[in-house]
Order: sequence, then C-alpha cells, then structure tokens
Amino acid sequence: MKYSANSTSLQHADALLVAIFENGELSATAQQFDTQGEISALIKCGEISGKIGETALLRQDSQRILLVGAGKQGEITERQFKQINQKAFQAIKASAAKTVVNALTDVQIKARDLYWNVRFAVETVAAESYVFDEFKSKKADALKLEDMIFPVDNADVQRAIQHASAVAFGAKLARDVANCPPNVCNPKYLAEQAKTLEKRTALVKTTVLGEKGMAELGMHAYLGVSQGSKNEAQLSIMEYRNHPNPNAKPIVFVGKGLTFDAGGISLKPAAEMDEMKYDMCGAASVYGVMNALAELQLPLNVIGVMAGCENLPDGNAYRPGDILTTMSGLTVEVLNTDAEGRLVLCDTLTYVERFEPECVIDVATLTGACVVALGQHNSGLVSTDDALAEQLFQASQQSQDKAWRLPLSEEYQEQLKSPFADLANLGGRWGGAITAGAFLSNFTKKYRWAHLDIAGTAWLQGANKGATGRPVGLLTQFLINLCE
Ligand code: BES
Ligand code: MN
Ligand code: ZN
Repeated sequence: MKYSANSTSLQHADALLVAIFENGELSATAQQFDTQGEISALIKCGEISGKIGETALLRQDSQRILLVGAGKQGEITERQFKQINQKAFQAIKASAAKTVVNALTDVQIKARDLYWNVRFAVETVAAESYVFDEFKSKKADALKLEDMIFPVDNADVQRAIQHASAVAFGAKLARDVANCPPNVCNPKYLAEQAKTLEKRTALVKTTVLGEKGMAELGMHAYLGVSQGSKNEAQLSIMEYRNHPNPNAKPIVFVGKGLTFDAGGISLKPAAEMDEMKYDMCGAASVYGVMNALAELQLPLNVIGVMAGCENLPDGNAYRPGDILTTMSGLTVEVLNTDAEGRLVLCDTLTYVERFEPECVIDVATLTGACVVALGQHNSGLVSTDDALAEQLFQASQQSQDKAWRLPLSEEYQEQLKSPFADLANLGGRWGGAITAGAFLSNFTKKYRWAHLDIAGTAWLQGANKGATGRPVGLLTQFLINLCE
C-alpha cells in the first residue's frame, strides 16, 4: 500500500474514512458530506452514535463513506486512535475500494498534534495488513486497497508519512524473520539477512564472525551455548555510517539471536516450546531498525549486531556446573543452561567495545520473569545511565511501543555470586528480569548502556500468534529524536 497526502482529492477516492464523535457530533469532513443530511439521518436512526469501535457504511454516488465512531473529541487516547483506524481498515479492506482517503485526521488525539494522527494511522494500517504466508501452499488474497491518502498536505504530514513508512517497513522485516521457522531461520540465515541489507544500501557494510573467529577472541561463553548445536553460531555486524563526521561515535544495537532455545541440558517443558523460535526477536528487531534507518537515511553512525546462536541438548552440549571464561576475562559458572541469552550477550557486549560506542542498547527475549513483572504490554528497561534510560522511555511513550524501567541497584549483584567463579549465570528465584540485567551490566563498564527485555512484547500467543515487530518502533523513534 502507498501512503500520500493530498488536500484536493477528497472526491476522487473509492472510499472515505470519516469520524463521528460521541453523541453523534459530526467531524469537519462529516459535515462537508452531510449536505443532503444523509449522515445526520444515519445517526438519528441509531446506525452509529460515535462510540469507539462503531462503523457504518454509506454510499454517495460511486463513493463509499465509512463513518467511524471516534469517541469524545479531544479526549481520544493514542490506543483508541489506533483502534479506530484498525476498525476502519478492517471494514474497508473487505470492500472493492482501491483508494481510500483517511479523514480521521479530524480527530484530536489527546496531547498530540496532526503528525501523530498520520504516524499512528500508517503504522496501524501497515501492521494490520501484515500476512505471513510464505509457508502456506495457498496464499492469502492480495489486498485490494492500493492507496491511502491523507486529506491534509503539509511538511508535518509528509514527515509523518516518511517516518511511519520506515517504521512499518522495519517492523514488517523484523516480523518476517521472526516468524520464519527455526529449521530455516538459523544463525546462518540471520547472517544472510544482514548481507542483504548491505546489498540494499551503500551506507551499510556487513561482516560476519563465525565460531573460529569467536574462539580467537576468547568468546567462550557464547561458544559454550552454541556447542550443543550443529548450526554454527554467527555474529552479524551491520555498520551504517552516514554521520557528517565519519568519526562520530556510533550508537550500537545488540540483538539476542537464539534462533531456537530448547533450554539445553536444562531442557524446557514441551508445552509451547515451539515459541522459542522467537528467541531471536531481539536480533530481528535490530535488523528491522537498521532497515528503517537505511530508509530514513538519518545522519548518524549506527551499528547493528545480531548474536545468532542455537541452544540445544546434545552429547556435546554445555552442562550445569561448567565454568566458562568470557571474552572480558570474567569467569561464569553455569547453573542453568537455559539462562543462555546472557552468556551469548555478555561476550557480544565485550566485542562491541571495539567500536568505542556513544552508547549500547541490547534487545533480548531474556527472561520469563520480565513477563511476570510487566505483562505483555511493556518491555523491561534496565540501564546504568539515567539519561539514556530517560531517552528510551520518552521514545517508548511517543511511539507507544512502551517500555518501563526496572531498578538496578547494587543489591542485585549479590544474587549472582558463585563459590567457584566470578559470577553465576543465575540470580535465584526473585527479580529474575533485574538479575539478568545486573549480570549483563558487568560487561558494559566501558560505555553508556541500556537493556530492553522484550520477552513479553516481541510476539503474541493464541489466535493472533505471531511476531509483533517490537521494539522497532521504539528504537527508530529513539534515532529520529537524536536528529531533531
Ligand atoms: N528465552 C528465554 C526467556 C523466555 C522465556 C522468553 C519465556 C519468553 C518466554 C530465556 O533464555 C530463558 O530461558 N530464561 C530463563 C532464565 C532462568 C533459567 C534464569 C527463564 O526466564 O526461565
Ligand atoms: Mn533459555
Ligand atoms: Zn533464551
């Protein structure tokens, strides 16, 4: 679908989305199309009252007018605005309309300007039209809708379309990679995606480090996790350089890329184990953000790293009790082979020191405990840097790809003591999302660092099972904010 702005084309589209507010109050566009009183008549007879979630279809000549209940003008939340766009899209996509004018720009979202109407509309519609049918023999019907036009054309709207399209593109790619089954999407596959990005834009250079290279660097925590799998671990590095000063310090993103996490010798229970193909969603989101960035061509230096690996039980697998020497020199006693993400990440976090980062943000489906703490709506945010944490929090609120900060005080480090090594890879029963972050913080002393635990937010379960593309929205917003 194409998104554009045009202030003169109201009459020429196949369909028009028009807001009706609570108690049957007409939006400006609704008034414009109520010349014969046909919209007022529909309200009068109770077809639609303006409540959020309602829709009613009206025909005027060859044009469909979809009336969309939008709630109380001025009090509409971001979530409600997304819901009404979702509803409108669902109602209109079933019709034969090819072009639609989205006049939900009339809605005043609480404490937001028009830019955000367009951002949220495009991002919502793009996410809603996502299908993943690569592995179905019968493909879904193609979407008939081709064009969505916003009836206001100014610099803000243009910018919003550009930003939202880039976010939507990045999120779609992240979802595609994440939904891909683990017999196809293995560490090599992630590396191939990274190389695809290099081909797509001259601003990106991709390099891939295999197990031989990791061994030479002493990344024995990462290698320990991988040794039970026949699939070779791959660390993929995408370097995007577009800062006016080529030597400007880069922002570094690190994504956990466990293309499957069976738990290793500390094997996970069978129920829902298939979902552990999503244990690479951190890496997928880094890939998505790098693609969004390449679309936006922001004047920054950014490095995206995907730590690809697989955690399986095997005769050669690492064991509980093993002591691994990390690239940093710190030793780690493995108490549970299912706490593998932090082992892969700690060496990757040491590896990225070589880039002399401005800051490092890692993204990982790290702990079930994070889902217990925050549910499936907020990602967990852990940081040793208040300013960076605040920037990420702000970006999460703006983009509505929400994150919530968890505390990281010294006490938590004590839970990671081992009688035999410098650290244990497990922090005991309580505060698991925080102790996982605390573990990582031992490897981030050379730069400003934040960690996003996306275990609860990266994919949906049940009827709508599938990757969400989060936190591509949050991280892209973080980058956009750095440039404004
Ligand atoms: N990938 C999992 C975390 C996870 C679990 C994400 C469920 C989403 C849903 C991670 O590798 C893991 O197994 N973590 C363990 C850590 C524990 C052994 C300290 C967990 O959360 O149970
Ligand atoms: Mn695990
Ligand atoms: Zn895992």
